[in-house]
Amino acid sequence: MSNRDQNSICNKYAHNSVSQFQNSAFKIFDILARGQIVAQSISIVAKLRIPDNLRDGPKSVGEMAVSAKVNPDALYRMLRMLASVGIFREIVSSREEKKQNEYSKARRFQLTPTACLLCSQTENSVRDFALLSGLDSLNKATINLLHTIKTGKNSFKYANGLEMFDYFQRKKNRTDAEIFDNAMTSLNLSYKSSLVRLYDFSQFKTILDIGGGQGLFLSHILKENPNQHGILFDLPKVIQRAKENYWASNKKRIYGKSHHHSLNSRCKLIGGDFFKDIPYGADGYIIKNVLLNWDDESVTVLLRNCLRTMKRSSSTVHGRSNLKRPSPKLVIIETIMPEGNAPFLGKFTDILMLVLTRGGRLRTEIQLTELLKSCGFNILNVLRPPDKVSFLSVIEAVPRTRRS
Ligand SMILES: C[S@@+](CC[C@H](N)C(=O)[O-])C[C@H]1O[C@@H](n2cnc3c(N)ncnc32)[C@H](O)[C@@H]1O
Repeated sequence: MSNRDQNSICNKYAHNSVSQFQNSAFKIFDILARGQIVAQSISIVAKLRIPDNLRDGPKSVGEMAVSAKVNPDALYRMLRMLASVGIFREIVSSREEKKQNEYSKARRFQLTPTACLLCSQTENSVRDFALLSGLDSLNKATINLLHTIKTGKNSFKYANGLEMFDYFQRKKNRTDAEIFDNAMTSLNLSYKSSLVRLYDFSQFKTILDIGGGQGLFLSHILKENPNQHGILFDLPKVIQRAKENYWASNKKRIYGKSHHHSLNSRCKLIGGDFFKDIPYGADGYIIKNVLLNWDDESVTVLLRNCLRTMKRSSSTVHGRSNLKRPSPKLVIIETIMPEGNAPFLGKFTDILMLVLTRGGRLRTEIQLTELLKSCGFNILNVLRPPDKVSFLSVIEAVPRTRRS
């Protein structure tokens, strides 16, 4: 179609009916106005602990501004905007109250169910994820999306000088790295239960979680299966932080003092690089939310390392080789990109991967299964989440043998 034809179609759409034009234009204005502003504001209220401050009941803007050390008028306007998207609720004061009280006392807000999830202590809290979306290093990357679109290369490195995971390894970026690790942990809080309903993890004696972050998902599986053992494997600094933070407090929380199977004795935490070597000795190998961070070349290296370690595991029991045991399984847990135009959260995650990672992307089922096959795996099962709310699927695979 020529440019002229395309222009006349656009003009026809625009002039066909004034109200249709207005609706379409407002849809664009609406998206542009919300854009970063809503995301930034959610991140800011999380950082200022405004939701935590409202846990005991409604508070005036004045009170909240004092504890957060911010400007009351600016805070009020931000909370009013967030209330319009369902986060917080303004309690409408009577005219009389407004007259009697000064502005910052009359304006009072309370939590909504959505705002409760931004409190730090709520079960399933997403506060850490909100903090992640406010990080300067990430925002510098997203603001340079045009660089990524022009070059196909991630703008995280362009804006921050290092690939994202290398950046998090630097001592001076420890705070960002902790926020990233905690955000991944908080994502797990939301979908750990639906995943254990979708796939039977109890079939394994020992599970190795490759790139398992702080280990919340693995510890959830171990908690469900008291006789199971686990190995958490991630970069050395992540494992160190996991030992110091999440793992230490989780042990006490889940098991208490008297529990027979302490998490400590059932789970090893190992630091290393999955592009070099992966520990062996498990019968279930999980890779969750990791492949989307890497290009096909890197995924191939990771999967081949996995295959090597799985073959070693199947011929070795507790250090004694030549004793055969059932073939270990690889369990890939990823968001599978659907075909077509339907709205799907993963299409936004995919752009984040484009901007933040070295060639990372969400893949279609065909792309994922082809990658696995090309690395020497046979696919046993692809399990899709039964509802539209969950988005992680499970691909179960085994090393291809000469006979299969
Ligand atoms: C997106 S996070 C997913 C974490 C966890 N599996 C989850 O689902 O919450 C990717 C993880 O891969 C880890 N990772 C990145 N590069 C790695 C490497 N070369 N070796 C081991 N782990 C690595 C990161 O530290 C991070 O914990």
